[in-house]
This record gives sequence, C-alpha cells and structure tokens, in this order.
Amino acid sequence: MNQKSPRTRRANSAEASPSNRQRLFRLARAAMKHAYAPYSGFRVGAAILLRDGRVFAGCNVENASYGLTLCAERNAIVAAVAASAKKPEIVAVAVANHRGAPCSPCGACRQVIAEFGPRAVVWYLGADGIVRRTMQELLVDGFRLCPNKPAHR
Ligand code: THU
Repeated sequence: MNQKSPRTRRANSAEASPSNRQRLFRLARAAMKHAYAPYSGFRVGAAILLRDGRVFAGCNVENASYGLTLCAERNAIVAAVAASAKKPEIVAVAVANHRGAPCSPCGACRQVIAEFGPRAVVWYLGADGIVRRTMQELLVDGFRLCPNKPAHR
C-alpha cells in the first residue's frame, strides 16, 4: 500500500487555502489569455501549485487536426515536469475559461493530474460558481500500470 499519512493529507488542505486559490485563478486567467483556440473559440487556462511551492500555468493549444489539441491542465503539468529534476507533486489546481462557463477537467486531464497529484484539490467553475473537488472525487479507479508498486520517477 502506498498510503500517505494523515499529516500529509492535512498539508494538502492547508496548501489549498483561499489565498492560494486566488493566486492560482489569477495565474490561470493570465495563461488563458494566451490560449490558441481558433477552432473551438473556447479559451482555457490552468494553474497548478506544487508541494515545494512552485506554480506553473498552461493554456489550451488547439490543432487543425482537432484530435491533437492539448488541454490547459496538461500543458501546465508538462511545464512543471520540464522544470523539475524530480517528479513534481501537485497539491492544487485551478481551471478558468474566458466565458465563465461551467468547465471541469476532461477525463484525460483527470488521469494526468492524478499521476502527479492523486490527492490534489481542484477548483473549477461549476453551474453555481467555483467548485472544489479532490482528485479522489474526480477520478475513481483511474488507470494504474502497477497498482501494487509505490509510484516513482
Ligand atoms: N479544454 C481544456 O483546455 N481543458 C478542459 O478541462 C476542457 C477543455 C479545451 C480543449 C479545447 O481546446 C477546448 O477546451 C474546447 O474543448
């Protein structure tokens, strides 16, 4: 079992504080402005907070093939991995879009967020404002290559 202690779990809630939420939404909205979305016209920005305090942001980057479109969340994670010597641990994620429309991370992004932040808190816009969910809530029985082995880089 690769269970984290209750202490580690509490740390996630502390890092998912209102001030960090505001900070992440600010960064997500700034990245959203750089979105390349000529096909859907739907601009998305995401920001992630790592356990070590660093933050990274990404925007969606579409492609004429449609299927090669990259979501904002995954682009933020790719940036974090490229800047990290060790596997980054995500503690919080915020997702924004320019329409203020309800928009939760897609299934593919949930699987990728879970890889780096299985206990992360995720904020996004729902029908009645900002929704806060944990990754345990957002991804039930996500795919794992080796379920019995502890995760390592
Ligand atoms: N998109 C994201 O970037 N993140 C999400 O969580 C959902 C969807 C993007 C992909 C595409 O460029 C556009 O939104 C419309 O689907």
